[in-house]
Amino acid sequence: MAKQLLSPFIFLVIFLLRCVTTSAQSPAQSPASSVTTNITGILDRAGQFTTLMRLLKTTQEADQINTQISNSNQGMTIFAPTDNAFNNLKAGTLNSLSDQQKVELVQFHVLPNLYSTTQFQTASNPLRTQAGDSTLFPMNVSSSGNQVNISTGVDNNVPVANTIYTDSHLAVYQVDQVLLPLSIFGSPAPAPAPAPSKDAPTAAPKGSSDSSVEASGAASLNLCALAILYCGVAAFMAITL
Ligand SMILES: *[C@@H]1O[C@H](CO)[C@@H](O)[C@H](O)[C@H]1NC(C)=O
Ligand SMILES: *[C@@H]1O[C@H](CO)[C@@H](O)[C@H](O)[C@H]1NC(C)=O
Ligand SMILES: *[C@@H]1O[C@H](CO)[C@@H](O)[C@H](O)[C@H]1NC(C)=O
Repeated sequence: MAKQLLSPFIFLVIFLLRCVTTSAQSPAQSPASSVTTNITGILDRAGQFTTLMRLLKTTQEADQINTQISNSNQGMTIFAPTDNAFNNLKAGTLNSLSDQQKVELVQFHVLPNLYSTTQFQTASNPLRTQAGDSTLFPMNVSSSGNQVNISTGVDNNVPVANTIYTDSHLAVYQVDQVLLPLSIFGSPAPAPAPAPSKDAPTAAPKGSSDSSVEASGAASLNLCALAILYCGVAAFMAITL
């Protein structure tokens, strides 16, 4: 074997070994977190939102929100009622809701657009919420100076209290009252009988955030294949020379 070919050959073997180890590690190492949002984590860190966190979980809206934020370029705005706000509801209010109504109540607090405090001042009424149809689920915003109020036709002039979290995709604002949608709470009749509960909507599609990990793993595997090929050629040349 020619001596001058031996050292590049050793170099290649070392490169190949390195390549195999890093590609084996890469799925564990890359956090896939560049744009992943954990709404539950944000509320958890803010404190005083345990009821909302529970509702987000049981309605599977937390997963839906996290997925939607990473897939949408409109961003999202969430009004987060405090535990006190839920405690101030008439006793039994949440329990009187069907599963579907719980989903709608949560979705009513989520807007499929990112609004900064100043953007609320130019937003046109009614605002679109995740609950859909703004005739059934109207939400208006009014503002003066820095004060932004929300009106739903049931609760009017609910002040937007605090900014809990904001980034380029998501704004989370504290509200000290639960925003009650007209279609569920508009009837003056006390505590409407729970409608027959429907199955909660299916979970949001999973795994979109894993694809980048897979892609980078595949890329380094391709590199490995190339290196193996190169090594083979080098070895062949070393033998024949
Ligand atoms: C999101 O945050 C919650 C609360 O901090 C935590 O229990 C959960 O494991 C986190 N989920 C993900 C996917 O990181
Ligand atoms: C907001 O609501 C408060 C009462 O909750 C009221 O005093 C204030 O005038 C309202 N402001 C606007 C701009 O609607
Ligand atoms: C929202 O604003 C629209 C247009 O200004 C108005 O017609 C409607 O009654 C308002 N609804 C509520 C719930 O405030």
